[in-house]
Amino acid sequence: MADTSVDGSHGSNVTRRTFVARGAVGAAGLFASLSLGESPSRADVSKTGSVDFPRGFLWGVATAAHQVEGNNVNSDLWLLEHLKPTLFTEPSGDACDHYHRYKDDIALVKRLGFNTYRFSIEWARIEPEKGFFSLAELEHYRRMLAACHEQGLTPMVTFWHFTVPRWFAAIGGWERTGADDLFARYAERAAKHLGDMIGAATTFNEPNIPMVLKWGNLFPKAVLTAAGAMLQQAAHRTGTDHFSDFLLGDANKQRDVMLPAHYRAIAAMKAGPGKYPVGVNIAISDDQAIGADSQRDVKRTTLYGPWLEAAAKSDFVGVQTYTRSRVGKDGDLPPEAGVELTQMGYEFWPESLEQTIRYAAQHAKVPVYVTENGIGTEDDTRRIEYTMRALAGVAACLRDKIDVRGYIHWSLMDNFEWNSGYRPKFGLVAVNRDTQERTPKPSAKWLGGIAKRNSF
Ligand code: BGC
Repeated sequence: MADTSVDGSHGSNVTRRTFVARGAVGAAGLFASLSLGESPSRADVSKTGSVDFPRGFLWGVATAAHQVEGNNVNSDLWLLEHLKPTLFTEPSGDACDHYHRYKDDIALVKRLGFNTYRFSIEWARIEPEKGFFSLAELEHYRRMLAACHEQGLTPMVTFWHFTVPRWFAAIGGWERTGADDLFARYAERAAKHLGDMIGAATTFNEPNIPMVLKWGNLFPKAVLTAAGAMLQQAAHRTGTDHFSDFLLGDANKQRDVMLPAHYRAIAAMKAGPGKYPVGVNIAISDDQAIGADSQRDVKRTTLYGPWLEAAAKSDFVGVQTYTRSRVGKDGDLPPEAGVELTQMGYEFWPESLEQTIRYAAQHAKVPVYVTENGIGTEDDTRRIEYTMRALAGVAACLRDKIDVRGYIHWSLMDNFEWNSGYRPKFGLVAVNRDTQERTPKPSAKWLGGIAKRNSF
């Protein structure tokens, strides 16, 4: 596909051939060196043209609690999913029953060849009532961490991945001034209980999503009206005036509360046991300027600016990307006619990874982990193609000595894709919805093989 940018700085269409030809010599450090600030090691290109990634490179797969655990009954979303009417296609229900099957799932991550498992701990389980912390649930996550260590996997823990306790939503959620106190207290309790076993952590998963949605005007009027009615019902059910929802809430207010919450959570983690790097995962699209009066730079400043600044003051930035956006003078343009779309309606654009790594590294000036990248598709051959081209981008960044330290694929298994329910298939592993049986797809074996060899 052609490079449609005005400045030509992105949109490189890297094929397998160009990837091999480019080779990848670059910088990325040992995982352990991150917190110690040692300089990164180098990647090598062998005589056969394959690329060896740097020693200690993290190869992982990711999940998020609400999407895989099942029965997250004290969360805000569980309530919203069960309202009538609801905007959710279907309820999360048992999800992948990962809450009970985590041991086998973690063993599978190892068996496939990965060395890292990124998962989230669920605030709604750990603090099901305001100020009441469940030791049993904290112990559950300790067991998950232990399972990772038994398998020799580095556990990367997300402290918040979209869902909140129902009581938190009912008192205003992230729109409430002072919510940072509540998140900091939760982070402190969780870090104290789990910190000695954590390999790396992130405070928030994509805290900039409300801004992304606002920018793209992604909710049609009818959806907003339905959402308003749904939230009113939720407020009524919880005896409050305003039930706050992260995606629908005031993006500016939430940002202003979440930024201090991020810093306070980092401080809490650093004060607790263990010594592990802490970052934040940002949703970034490969924004391409179309036309001289493109709003591309305004978009970047608004959507990513504050969080890249936050990442700059953290140990690393987590890059999460799925596609590109072509940004014109009035905002994002729809994908061009005839381009391949994924199940989410995104343009098939694996090259976004290279561009977003470059962009994030340049602005945050801290090491980069790709904490999410993947594709919703029923066609596993497209997943392989997508990931191969995305990895070519990682290799190109390494060649240019950008400090990329890991690639974590979204997702380990097909799971609950929020309001889209179980239809989109992001997993390397298929999950039978009746029996919960896991079946690795060819992409799982392919990517796991690369991880095992640390070479492509
Ligand atoms: C989120 C995941 C989600 C994925 C695919 C990311 O924005 O962190 O929870 O499943 O995208 O849509």
